[in-house]
Amino acid sequence: MYFAVPAERIEGERRVALVPDGVKQLVGLGHKVGVQAGAGLPSGALDEEYAAAGGEVVAEAEDLYGRADAVVKVRAPDADELHLLRSGVVLVALLAPLAAPELADQLGGLGAVAFSLDAVPRIARAQSMDVLSSMSNVGGYRAALAGAVQCGRFFPLMMTAAGTIPPAKVLIIGAGVAGLQAIATAKRLGAVVQAFDTREATRQQVESLGASFLTLPLPAGGAEGAGGYARRLASEEEALERELLADPVRQADVVITTALVPGMRAPVLITAEMVAAMHPGAVIVDMAAEAGGNTAVTVPGQQAVVNGVVIDGTLNWPSAMPQASSRLFSRNVVTFLRHLLDSGLAEGTVTDSTDEIVRGTLITHGGHVVHAATLERLAARTGGR
Ligand code: NAI
Repeated sequence: MYFAVPAERIEGERRVALVPDGVKQLVGLGHKVGVQAGAGLPSGALDEEYAAAGGEVVAEAEDLYGRADAVVKVRAPDADELHLLRSGVVLVALLAPLAAPELADQLGGLGAVAFSLDAVPRIARAQSMDVLSSMSNVGGYRAALAGAVQCGRFFPLMMTAAGTIPPAKVLIIGAGVAGLQAIATAKRLGAVVQAFDTREATRQQVESLGASFLTLPLPAGGAEGAGGYARRLASEEEALERELLADPVRQADVVITTALVPGMRAPVLITAEMVAAMHPGAVIVDMAAEAGGNTAVTVPGQQAVVNGVVIDGTLNWPSAMPQASSRLFSRNVVTFLRHLLDSGLAEGTVTDSTDEIVRGTLITHGGHVVHAATLERLAARTGGR
């Protein structure tokens, strides 16, 4: 097959879907790989390195799309790229079909065989293809560093000739993949770290990293949902959580929020009043900004300052570490593509759609949306009109 790796077009996106090592692996399997000239530059990969790996460097996106049996991207195609997709072409990218079901509908109409990398099921066999985990890892690390840089004080205890300075207090809300990496990073920097998650299963993981787990008893017990994710709390449970978090938030120097419920707006766990009660100079890094934010005052994509408290709503933390994130993304993608090829993928066809990974990630096929959750989302939107 001919795999095409276009340059990402979304502003601020510095990742690339395949690094030269990934190209080398696909070429070694007997495939051709075309890479748009300059596609790797923002993440530090030169055209010459792609060529040395056996890739074909193609100057124009139009030519590249014209040759492609499969297009491999980080982000969903924009309107111009949609026009370049040939019917029957395979598309592999982060398509966010639950947040953007209309795009899935369009891709179906164009005859694309689209797979969404954010829909890889959370099963042991798929761990090596799990782009979301890789990106959350990078993001959690980077967000903790952002908190450390912006808070204006030391994370570790400092004993100096001018006196002893106590360590910073860091609170992490949501201890999934990103939260656990943020905890580990803040701990390595010497902060005193507390964390909370509604899934009781995370307690042991938090404690094993040397952080303390906040016990916030919710009336209905834990909040384990489907697929290892959290369920959405009822509004009275969320209100109780906010009440219980008020003190720890007030005392924190840095709060990193990562609480997400798949396919939904992020829960608002920090109110404007809670921010007002924090001390000036404190920082909230809201990693849930993309999904609306875990605070009531987050401005997605921007830094807000309220009463001297910084609320950092930066989007796409993994893109701020493009070398690390592209390398991991590329490894995940190659493993995923190998799995698809082993399952009988060829242009326009998917042989084994009974496989859990293929079925979970296949969004469009045969001119239609075939992904059950995306179809439900589309039906809900059409019904709501
Ligand atoms: P996520 O990004 O969807 O959510 C982040 C965290 O927010 C989760 O830990 C969730 O419990 C928490 N959260 C949701 N609502 C909350 C609230 N109201 N208050 C506080 N916290 C709240 O989740 P992520 O990080 O993608 O992974 C979730 C879990 O999936 C992992 O911890 C793990 O158990 C499982 N997983 C399994 C994998 C595999 O087996 N291949 C790979 C990665 C994750």
